[in-house]
Order: sequence, then C-alpha cells, then structure tokens
Amino acid sequence: MEDLMEKIVSLCKRRGFVFPGSEIYGGLANSWDYGPLGAQMRMNIKTDWWKKVVEQRDDMVGLDGSILMNPKVWIASGHVGHFSDPLVEDVESHKRYRADHLVEEVLGISADGMSTQELNELIQKNNIKSPEGNALTPAKQFNLMFETKIGKTEDDKSVVYLRPETAQAIFVNFKNVLDTTRKRLPFGVAQIGKAFRNEITPGNFVFRTLEFEQMEIEYFLEEGDWETHFNAWVAWMQKWAASLGIQTDHLHAEDIAQEKLAHYSKRTIDFEFEFPFGKKELWGLAYRTNFDLTNHQEHSKQKLEYSDPNDNSKKLIPHVVEPTFGVDRTLLAILCSAYHEEEVEGETRVVMKFKPHMAPYQVAVLPLMKKGGLAEKAREVMEGLLPHFRCEYDETGSIGKRYRRQDEIGTPYAITVDFETLESGTVTVRNRDTMEQERISTNDLIEYISRNTK
Ligand code: GAP
Repeated sequence: MEDLMEKIVSLCKRRGFVFPGSEIYGGLANSWDYGPLGAQMRMNIKTDWWKKVVEQRDDMVGLDGSILMNPKVWIASGHVGHFSDPLVEDVESHKRYRADHLVEEVLGISADGMSTQELNELIQKNNIKSPEGNALTPAKQFNLMFETKIGKTEDDKSVVYLRPETAQAIFVNFKNVLDTTRKRLPFGVAQIGKAFRNEITPGNFVFRTLEFEQMEIEYFLEEGDWETHFNAWVAWMQKWAASLGIQTDHLHAEDIAQEKLAHYSKRTIDFEFEFPFGKKELWGLAYRTNFDLTNHQEHSKQKLEYSDPNDNSKKLIPHVVEPTFGVDRTLLAILCSAYHEEEVEGETRVVMKFKPHMAPYQVAVLPLMKKGGLAEKAREVMEGLLPHFRCEYDETGSIGKRYRRQDEIGTPYAITVDFETLESGTVTVRNRDTMEQERISTNDLIEYISRNTK
C-alpha cells in the first residue's frame, strides 16, 4: 500500500498535480504547491461544495472571513489555552515527535486524549526511545498556532495568530449575518479558506501540512434539534463523498469516544478514509453546543443572542453542528480512489477514473497528425468546446502515447480529428474507462459530452 502512495506522489509530480514546495531552492519540508491540474481539481472541489451548501440551499449563506483576527478571538475560543499537542524531543538529535504517536506505535494502544503526565508515565515505565534509539525529554504541551507580529513594534501587544481553523470567523460574525440576512433558526454559514497549524509531525504528502484549506459550516439551531441535524449532516457527507468519486467502502464514520473529544465538542464523528498509509481522518462532524457563541459573548461583552421571531421574549444562544472538510485531504482521497492500473496489450495502463466534474480536463482534443490541415481543424473543434468544457489540446507524439497521457490525468473523453473529419465533419470520441471509440458529428459533440459528463 505504501507503494501505491509512492506511485500517486510520482504521478502527481510528473503530470502537474502537486509539486514539492519551493523546489528550486531545495524545497521547504512538508510544503506542496498545486500544479495546473491540482489547482483545477481543488477549484472543482470547492465550487461543487459551495454550490451544494450555499447556492442551492435556502437555509445557508456564505462568509469570507480574514486569516488574521483579534487575538482575543483565540483566547475566547480556547485555542490559546487548549489547542496543543504533546511534544517530546530526542536528546541527541533534537528532533521533535508527538508523544502520543510514539506511545501508540510502541505499545499498540490508543493515546488520544491522554494527559502529559499519563504519557510521561508510560514513556518512563516502558523505556520508550525516539525512533533513532535515543532518550526523550519529558512530554510538554506545544501550542499549534503560528504566531506573527503586526506593525513595526516588537512588543507583545502586536502578536497575532494565523487562524488554525476558519470556524471562528463565523462565530464572531454571527450577529452581523443574523442582522443582515434575516435568517431564522435553523440556518448555516459556510466558509472556505486557508488555515495554519504548526504540526509537530507533518507528513504523508498533502495529508498533514502546516498550511491547508478548510471548507467549514456552522449550522445554528435550537438545542433540542441538534441530533436531527447532526444525523442529516452525516447522510449529506456520505452522499457528497460518493458524488466526488471517493470510494465509499473505504470511508468509515467513527464516533469519537467522550474522553477523546476536542475541548468544544459533545459529540464528534470522524469520517475516516483508508488512505494507502492507513485509516485516517478525512472530514469531521462535531456538535459544538453553544460553547463558542457563549464564550465570545462573555469575552467580547457583546450580546450574541437570537430572538425567536414568534415570541420576542424567547431569547437563546444557538447551538451548532459543525461539518468540516479539508480541501487537501479531499483531493488526496479522490486521487487514491481514482488510481487504477490495468493490463492492456501486455502493458500497464495507469488510469485516473475521476468523475467528470472533478477531472482537471473533461475533454482532450487531439489531431491525428499536425499536417494536412488536421491541427487547424482540431483547434477549431476545441474553440467550439471551450465555452462548455475544460479542454486540453495536444498534438505532440504518437496518438497512442497521447491517449495514455490523458488516461493518467483522468480526462474522460479524447476527441481525435482525422482526415475523415475534413470530409464528413465527424470525429472519434474515445471513452477513458472503456477505451471504446465512437464516431460522432462535430455538431453533436456538445450534446454528447454534456449527456455523458453529468
Ligand atoms: N473547525 C474544526 C476543525 O478545525 P479539525 O478536525 O481540527 O476540526 C478539520 O480540522 C479538517 O481540516 C480535518 O478533518 C482535515 O480534513 C483538515 N485538516 C486538519 N488539520 C490538517 C492538516 N494539518 N493538514 C491538512 N488538513 C488538515
């Protein structure tokens, strides 16, 4: 399975999905840049999500909050006090490790939610060493928020944090959204944006990085209704995963035990996906109660209540259910699900079986050869398709090699322009998955591809 991950990482680099970050300067550990194909797929994921959770729903609106917020936000949210992981250091190499991960690896138990004291006791009792075989410093909590400073002064007052989750901008703007949209409970606010965490052990390609993108929803409701909406979001998330082409038999909704819940949550389901490197969290769904709004009301001294439109005397601080999605992990799950190898005529064909709406390109336009007016005709065909589909034109190399390249980047349809095109106005359309070819009139192409890419 590790082998599969290597193949995916190599394909991503070779074909332009994901590049190592700052590569010409020797890279920056665990940073990645999305190439032309990866950038398009991330856009496809975000657009599909936004359309489905904001544009096509009457009970949801969008928000685009800033990355830098008043540091008091992170005190009120509990991130300054609690958003930390237990860290140990190799006394020789000074490499840092997650204490809970080392305990889990060595003892084969779950160390989620253990205190630093419990971890230290286990490390001592079992004489756990670093992966290099050296002694470890005692575990201490390490806050994951990145700090930076604003302005010219170097004093403590200028410290700000890069947001570790997008969610807080939604809570902080709750009253603004309520007053400007006149939404009534239950309603949700959705947001897409970058988040930053100074992870002690990033890794596994784009799975755990220091900078990543989240798509988050805070669904505001009355306390008594939380379970109904929680269950509805479970169903929504499972359905959305299938629609993206994520292997549903590799996706598991795991209820998190009470003692392992995040500081704000009363119930959490982790949607875990069987990545090639193990079963790991893809998305999360948490019932955050009214923890955040209550704390922001207390710290900001601003009323964050909701008045029942039918009974003005009824005031409450709404509770929330929070579905949260990582864009990068979603892309990785799609890549892992789509990767297929098939034996064709004694050769291995690598094909990314993306759903057409997720594929970087939906159509490839290929002149059989450059000469004889075929290149010009192919460009003309592509011009007609570009307003409707994401298209790539390719005239380089043998047609067989060009088909294989399109298979590797997951293009569902390859249109070949040949000499018959010049005579009869028809092209061949090759289906990526079946490799079958049909002759279609250029006049029918838009309708044909639209029908088959829905
Ligand atoms: N607002 C709740 C929250 O942030 P989380 O489980 O810590 O919850 C939500 O993060 C999602 O963000 C995760 O399910 C995952 O998809 C993504 N994510 C979290 N940390 C990440 C990291 N270091 N690298 C890439 N994605 C990450």
